[in-house]
Amino acid sequence: MNETLPPDEKPAVTEGGPASSDPWKGHAPGVPAQKAQGGQRAYFSVWDLHAYYGESYVVQGVSFNVREGEIVALLGRNGAGKTSTLRAIARVDNPEVKHGEIWLDHKPLHEMKSYQAAQNGIGLVPEDRRIIQGLTVEENLKLAQIAPPHGWSLERIYELFPRLAERRTQEGTTLSGGEQQMLALARILARDVKLLLLDEPYEGLAPVIVQEIERTLEEIKALGMTTIIVEQNAIAALHLADRALILDMGEIVFDGTAQEVLDNEDLRHEYLAL
Ligand SMILES: Nc1ncnc2c1ncn2[C@@H]1O[C@H](COP(=O)(O)OP(=O)(O)OP(=O)(O)O)[C@@H](O)[C@H]1O
Ligand SMILES: [Mg+2]
Repeated sequence: MNETLPPDEKPAVTEGGPASSDPWKGHAPGVPAQKAQGGQRAYFSVWDLHAYYGESYVVQGVSFNVREGEIVALLGRNGAGKTSTLRAIARVDNPEVKHGEIWLDHKPLHEMKSYQAAQNGIGLVPEDRRIIQGLTVEENLKLAQIAPPHGWSLERIYELFPRLAERRTQEGTTLSGGEQQMLALARILARDVKLLLLDEPYEGLAPVIVQEIERTLEEIKALGMTTIIVEQNAIAALHLADRALILDMGEIVFDGTAQEVLDNEDLRHEYLAL
């Protein structure tokens, strides 16, 4: 999959599918991957995604499917391309997607800007959590609810996150790391999210707080939220996830069940340094 052409010879993001001269493995124009393979269309699918930071080629032909309600752990070493893949899915400007298709619930995200992807159900919780300075917890949540489509009510959010209820008048940026992660999650739930993208939700948190966030994610899982979780704490992510993808140097090198990764020491050793 590395024998692709240099960036300037690559076609732009496909509109209606790759042309017949497409150097990448293509499928019928406009037909999502799963359907082209003869199966049922996946709830979420990424098909032959290639993305760049300038000249730097970081997502090198990534394809995978996610079923509705499934939790998928996206794992791999530092620099493997996990964050870049999440960013490409959320349609943020960088990295630039030069080829490929991204479908969520029959909607072509690859044709969208990031705000449209958000309106169509993508909820990215980035590593830095992006709590808005100068706003209280409740103001942060209300801001997330400002535009339709609306998700959870404040009451429902406070039920899931009693700590946020206790701190509703506290400035968001003064919360502890774990509480900020809860607020970042809560802000996403305040919108109508179909696919939750979590980038290192346990990062920088003490083990006891990780356990608390894990319990929250289990509750969100029980509600049937389709989720992709990127985590350095691969074991914790694998315990939460149904399936696992392993990325290495911008390519998917494993796609299987979370249990298979937990059981396969060689695989963990080679790609996850575990
Ligand atoms: N803004 C950027 N500009 C240029 N290159 C970048 C940029 N962000 C990331 N990269 C490069 O893209 C590659 C993939 O990075 P990415 O952040 O996606 O990896 P990751 O798997 O999330 O790693 P980590 O586990 O360290 O978070 C790396 O080689 C990285 O140096
Ligand atoms: Mg990352």
